[in-house]
Amino acid sequence: MVFCFLRSYRFTEATWEAFSLPNFVFRGVCHPGIFKPMRGIKVKGSSSVRTLVSDGESHVQPMPLVEEETGSSSSVQSTPEIEKNYVHRVYDAIAPHFSSTRFAKWPKVATFLNSLPSGSLVLDAGCGNGKYLGFNPDCTFVGCDISGPLIKICADRGHEVLVADAVNLPYRTGFGDAAISIAVLHHLSTENRRKRAIDELVRAVKKGGLILITVWAVEQEDRSLVTKWTPLNQNGASACALENGLAKKDDKKGAVVYNRYYHVFSEGELERLVSGMNNAVVVDRFFDKSNWCIILQKTL
Ligand SMILES: C[S@@+](CC[C@H](N)C(=O)[O-])C[C@H]1O[C@@H](n2cnc3c(N)ncnc32)[C@H](O)[C@@H]1O
Repeated sequence: MVFCFLRSYRFTEATWEAFSLPNFVFRGVCHPGIFKPMRGIKVKGSSSVRTLVSDGESHVQPMPLVEEETGSSSSVQSTPEIEKNYVHRVYDAIAPHFSSTRFAKWPKVATFLNSLPSGSLVLDAGCGNGKYLGFNPDCTFVGCDISGPLIKICADRGHEVLVADAVNLPYRTGFGDAAISIAVLHHLSTENRRKRAIDELVRAVKKGGLILITVWAVEQEDRSLVTKWTPLNQNGASACALENGLAKKDDKKGAVVYNRYYHVFSEGELERLVSGMNNAVVVDRFFDKSNWCIILQKTL
């Protein structure tokens, strides 16, 4: 079964004004249909339907989702509309607020970075506001992210960064000594793109290089969070959210609410994604703070 969700990200009106966010998003809220309709999302039969209750307002029924899968290199690299609308544009719009809330480092990521040999060149693909860039002062960090506004925040902090898609990293083969991909792969909407992003991380590090990958787990420790997700189906709340664009205004709560796309991973799914690779092996796997995590080592 594939678990795909839209997760709400709430802004108060005050926050919205404080950061003078791009108004194209706000207009999108007022005038549904400004963004292209979704394509390539098909819903399979309604067996194994569970009912989730979102935060007291609506009842939604998740269904297994069949994702669009195409094999050719160019189609894997061309960004699906759902990622453009529900990942890229959302991070662009929320960048300052998102960044102001992202400073705590995960101990497991910190341990990984601190374990790297002095002088290592570390690649952070999907670096967000750059909170791990420069974390280990004995290493050199290079970051990239799909969000221009987040990359600007990193650059303003003096980091070496550029805008790039994780499925098409702009680094030469064997460029880094190690790489991290923290909470990024769950924003890629097809298995081929998730696989390609892992291939790219492996390609970009040297033989022997370690790669830490973390993704959101469907097995959340805080079950109350799950009730706030809107499963992607074509009925009710989620269909409405898809049609209406990035976000909706919630006057009652005085907030602008964005939906972000997540493909949440089930146990063993990350390992299955890498099982066919002939140039990397899994050297560690663990569950941490509702995330599945693996450490890969490049072997060839
Ligand atoms: C949850 S944030 C994690 C950011 C950072 N890794 C951290 O741990 O704070 C997800 C990040 O993935 C980035 N992202 C999403 N899709 C991407 C893609 N296709 N290529 C590169 N970055 C992407 C987003 O812009 C965002 O910065």
